[in-house]
Amino acid sequence: MADTQQTPLVEMRNISIAFGGVKAVDHVSVDLMPGEVVGLLGHNGAGKSTLIKILSGAYQADEGEIFINGEKATITNPRDARKYNIETIYQTLALADNLDAASNLFLGRELVSPLGFVDDDAMEAETRKIMQRLNPNFTKFAAPVSALSGGQRQSVAIARAVYFNARILIMDEPTAALGPHETQMVSELIQQLKADGIGIFLISHDIHDVMHLCDRASVMKNGELVGTVDVSDVTDDDLLGMIILGKHPKKAA
Ligand SMILES: Nc1ncnc2c1ncn2[C@@H]1O[C@H](COP(=O)(O)OP(=O)(O)O)[C@@H](O)[C@H]1O
Ligand SMILES: [Mg+2]
Repeated sequence: MADTQQTPLVEMRNISIAFGGVKAVDHVSVDLMPGEVVGLLGHNGAGKSTLIKILSGAYQADEGEIFINGEKATITNPRDARKYNIETIYQTLALADNLDAASNLFLGRELVSPLGFVDDDAMEAETRKIMQRLNPNFTKFAAPVSALSGGQRQSVAIARAVYFNARILIMDEPTAALGPHETQMVSELIQQLKADGIGIFLISHDIHDVMHLCDRASVMKNGELVGTVDVSDVTDDDLLGMIILGKHPKKAA
């Protein structure tokens, strides 16, 4: 559970953005504590992706402010976001299918030997080290990632983010295409990231996933924030009411 004395990793305050006449995000405030998973819920078109793209630097808000570790942040492009240790795991994962896990981990940021050659051994050793921590069951180091399962591919994408110091992870529908066993693998991965103090915004429209994986949930509808709740205070039906009717549940104890 989030400790209210701590400084939030992320505070998005009063964020608005419009496309033409459409208010995609309308005065929305959300926050994220270290080691916390906050679910972003809502129907298609609610504004979830747009809100998170403002944090990842893909869009710039018309209004509102972002604070990272209590300090006002200026995020005008994805490079800025990376500077603040914000990494996004897109649904598509953005992996190079024909390359192995290590090559994907270091894609574009290859380790080189003192003589300037790409150091495959060092990259594989680093990949093994981080996988040992994140997903000890991962063994397919030599295979192209196209030969990996959905959950294993997800592990590679997350390992890449974490290796490069992600403190704030944005995950867009991480379990959408996964079976139960694979969903369990991603769930364990998320527990590990939490234990490391990483904060996660998890976009989902699967209420069971949210109840299972998240500490809090922020629900959006038509660009507006319906509310943010502790998942331990609400039922599946409460969340459904927020999503469908835009109705905030009666305050739980
Ligand atoms: N680049 C864009 N140009 C115009 N409209 C957009 C753009 N991105 C999102 N929108 C609109 O903003 C609203 C919110 O979309 P989105 O953030 O994708 O919702 P969600 O992720 O919750 O499904 C929708 O009405 C969508 O059509
Ligand atoms: Mg979306």
